[in-house]
Amino acid sequence: MALINHINLPRRPFASLLRYFHKARITTLLLFCAAITLFAVYLHNFEPNRDRSNSWQAKIISLNPLFGGPDNYNAWSKRPRIGKVSILYGDKKLAHERALKTQEKHNRLHGYSMHLLRRGILDGYWTKPAYILSLILQELGKQDSERLSWLFWVDADTVVLNSHVPLEIFIPPTQHKDIHLLVTKDWNGLNNGVFLLEVTPWAVELFTAIASFRDFQPNTTLTFQDQSAMEILLKEPKYANHTVTVPQRWFNAYKDEKDKELKADQVRGGDLLVHLAGVNPREKYLDEWCDRYEEDPSVWEIALENTTYPTETKEFWENLKT
Ligand SMILES: *[C@@H]1O[C@H](CO)[C@@H](O)[C@H](O)[C@H]1NC(C)=O
Ligand SMILES: *[C@@H]1O[C@H](CO)[C@@H](O)[C@H](O)[C@H]1NC(C)=O
Ligand SMILES: *[C@@H]1O[C@H](CO)[C@@H](O)[C@H](O)[C@H]1NC(C)=O
Repeated sequence: MALINHINLPRRPFASLLRYFHKARITTLLLFCAAITLFAVYLHNFEPNRDRSNSWQAKIISLNPLFGGPDNYNAWSKRPRIGKVSILYGDKKLAHERALKTQEKHNRLHGYSMHLLRRGILDGYWTKPAYILSLILQELGKQDSERLSWLFWVDADTVVLNSHVPLEIFIPPTQHKDIHLLVTKDWNGLNNGVFLLEVTPWAVELFTAIASFRDFQPNTTLTFQDQSAMEILLKEPKYANHTVTVPQRWFNAYKDEKDKELKADQVRGGDLLVHLAGVNPREKYLDEWCDRYEEDPSVWEIALENTTYPTETKEFWENLKT
């Protein structure tokens, strides 16, 4: 016993010290957990707002009252997810490849995914509606939270000039939520080289109808193939009711190299892109446009608030009849 007492006695203060440290460790651990929880709560509640208030999204919101005003970040949290779609295949299309690369900076800045088909599947231009249809179906098969809400089609003969312009600025505001398709027209009528399409069952029907048009109406002359089919279909109430024609320069500005006069459809500094529709030789002018941009990007890359987009889009939707 004496031996045990002898051993126990000196151990007693050591044991209480251990207990003290043990308690302290638990307290430290609890404090540490609490700190982590508080930090996580802080990150969750405050960081996104801080991010948003510094980002261009917040700028659109603050510039465009249709988005709910500067304090309504909720509008942005319900932002659309936009994917770009295009096709490019075949050899000796170096200028087209170069032009397509101009999409990359724009996509990176705004987080757009790029869906690029590298093969021709059907004859003529008929792969285009078929590919768009396949993407819409694929997206509609996903959960709401995973799904792209809009597709932005761009022909491969377009050059992005102002990467500051977010595609979100074109999305119809709530009072026009029945609009599923934004198109532009030129002197020939519809030009489907660039358009913005909402991912909806309506779009499945439209693009099914376009893709199968020549089989069901073989006697209709389709001068511009899928574009003519689309134009005819968009005149039907079922499709016309959910489509709007927007000013051409919003996202489909042209440039006629021979025409020195600045017409309403001709590209100018600050415009999102230039589309070399019907310009020949296409490769030469695509290269020239890429050069023109690279020589002095500051001519083209204008901050969003210094372009006409915020007021133009706002006025357009406000004046559009529902
Ligand atoms: C197309 O025209 C041909 C020749 O006139 C006719 O025989 C055929 O029935 C027409 N097809 C349709 C779907 O109208
Ligand atoms: C299209 O809109 C018009 C006018 O709002 C309406 O009368 C008509 O029923 C609509 N048609 C279809 C097919 O939705
Ligand atoms: C917009 O233009 C004004 C006047 O030219 C200029 O001072 C300002 O820096 C521009 N804004 C941005 C964000 O570049």
